[in-house]
Order: sequence, then structure tokens, then C-alpha cells
Amino acid sequence: MSFPITRLRRLRKNPILRNMVSETSLRAEDLIMPLFVCPGTQINKPISSMPGNSQLSVDLLLEECAQLLEVGIKSVLLFGIPESKDEHGHVACGHNGIVQQAIRAIKERFGDTLLTVADVCNCEYTTHGHCGTIVDGDVDNDLTLVTLANQALSLAHSGADIIAPSDMMDGRVQKIREILDLNGFGQTPIMAYSAKYASGFYGPFREAAESTPQFGDRRSYQMNPANSDEAMREIALDIEEGADIVMIKPALSYLDIIRRTKDSFNIPIAAYSVSGEFSMVKAAAANGWIDEERIMMEMMISMKRAGADIIITYFAKQVAKVLNR
Ligand code: PBG
Repeated sequence: MSFPITRLRRLRKNPILRNMVSETSLRAEDLIMPLFVCPGTQINKPISSMPGNSQLSVDLLLEECAQLLEVGIKSVLLFGIPESKDEHGHVACGHNGIVQQAIRAIKERFGDTLLTVADVCNCEYTTHGHCGTIVDGDVDNDLTLVTLANQALSLAHSGADIIAPSDMMDGRVQKIREILDLNGFGQTPIMAYSAKYASGFYGPFREAAESTPQFGDRRSYQMNPANSDEAMREIALDIEEGADIVMIKPALSYLDIIRRTKDSFNIPIAAYSVSGEFSMVKAAAANGWIDEERIMMEMMISMKRAGADIIITYFAKQVAKVLNR
């Protein structure tokens, strides 16, 4: 059937009709808010490249969590800024690690009403800023698996609800699954950063997390932005190794990867709309060049339309407020 019998504009006539035939929707439950936790008390150190985001000490982090819950955000993704760093990231593997402390405090105050997702990686904890142990100028895959597994176990012990490895070492999901299962955490899910690209969009995060590599870059472990078939191989392997949720990161320049994953696998998909995606919108809005709220909501719906079930975004709180109106 074609024009003039078919007129697609008929269903666009008014908002009720448009909403009735809307193919995609967005809920606060879909969103995860990333937070940065640092040592001390009463510390709120704004991240200049990510307006509205700060490094927070545990006491203030709890206040932020309370505000998130109030608007309907029920999940947070935690990153730590440790007191000191070392060659291998051992500082992230102990009971007193900064994220471990934060998770215990969150669990004590909010119990199961707030879901804690613990990022597992070494880059915030190593002196050189790379995601693992360096041998001959590059990150050694299999040595790094040991610290990653220890870090994951320690985070699970502290009460993390989901373990989210973001390092891109081969075999890490399997190693983490093994150590969790061996230690009574068989019910703790793994959200794997499966297709994580070596991206310029992480720039502002590295200021936020103080995790800029001191030499070289991450191209020997993160994916080449030119590749899509390889992302499917990464995802297939992570699922085989025991991932419960797979993640595509960044999101907006990789919506094709999200869609391809949706069409090829039947597993929950998380999209990480990263710091650069957030900061670009903030900067343009601050200049009066775009309508921030409209663009923010359009970004969210585009990730859902591409096939994301879960969206990790620094806009989470702001989006929830719009949804609550
Ligand atoms: C750590 C990690 C990074 C991000 C999340 N986990 C940075 C990186 O890989 O350099 C980026 C998040 C963002 O930009 O919002 N491995």
C-alpha cells in the first residue's frame, strides 16, 4: 500500500497518538549513575570537565545516593580514587580499598534498595595508569588476571551486587567467575565491558578518575574503533566465559554495535554513554548552542532504540527528573 492510501503522518497528529505508537520507552530503572569516591570526609571535589560531577568522600557519596533514590535511580557504578597507587594495583584488592569502604557504607545505609555495580580495573590504582601489570612496556594479560580476580573477589566480599570488569584483558570474565564461584559468590552477576573501544571519548573521565596512562595508550588492549566483527567475537567469548550482561562502550558512536549485538545474541545489553559524550553536550549547552534537555533525552532514546536494555550515563539523575515530570 502506498500514498495516498498510506499516509504515515496520520499517526503523528497529536502527542497521545504519537506516544501510543512509540516503539521505544525509557524508565529510570534502566539507568545507572557512575560515581567517583575518594578518601576523607566532607570532600566534594568538582570535576571541571564534567559539570555536576564530583569526587566524593564516602559520607557525601551516601548523600548523593539518597538523592538518586529519591528521583528513582536505583543503581550506581562505582569508581575509586585511592589514597596511594602501586605498580600492580594491589591497593584495589584489599578490605580497606576505597570502593570496598563505599560499598559497605552504601549497603549499611540503603541495604538492597540501591544496587551497587563495582567497576573492576587497575587503571585508577596503578602508578603508570595502565589497566594492568606492565612487562616489557605493555600490559601483561595473564599476570593482570590475578589482580583483577582478587579485586573482584574483594569487592564481592564488601557487598557489591554486580561485578563489572572494564580492563579488556583476555579471559578475565572466566577468571572472575571462577574465583567468585569458589568463594560462595555464585549468585553475583558479571556485567562485562565486552566491546570497549580505545576511544577519545574517555578524556574527561581520566581527569575524574585520575587514570591517564603515563606512557603510551590503551590500544594494545582496548578495541580498534574500525571493528565490528571483532566486537561480536569479544561478546561471544564473554558470554561463553560467564558474562550475565554485556556492555558496549562508548555508546553514541557505536550504536551499530549495540544493534548488531541485539540481533545476534539474546542477553541483556548495557550501553555506556561515556564522559566525552556527556561533556560535549554540557559544553555546547553552556554556550547556548543546543537544547540540553532535548538532546539528552534524544541520546537516551537512541540507545534504547539501538537495543540497549541498560544505560550507564552521567545524565542519570537529570533524566530521571525529566521522566518524573
Ligand atoms: C577504566 C575505565 C574507563 C572508563 C570506564 N572505566 C577509562 C578508560 O578505559 O580509559 C571510561 C568512562 C568514561 O569515559 O565515562 N578502565
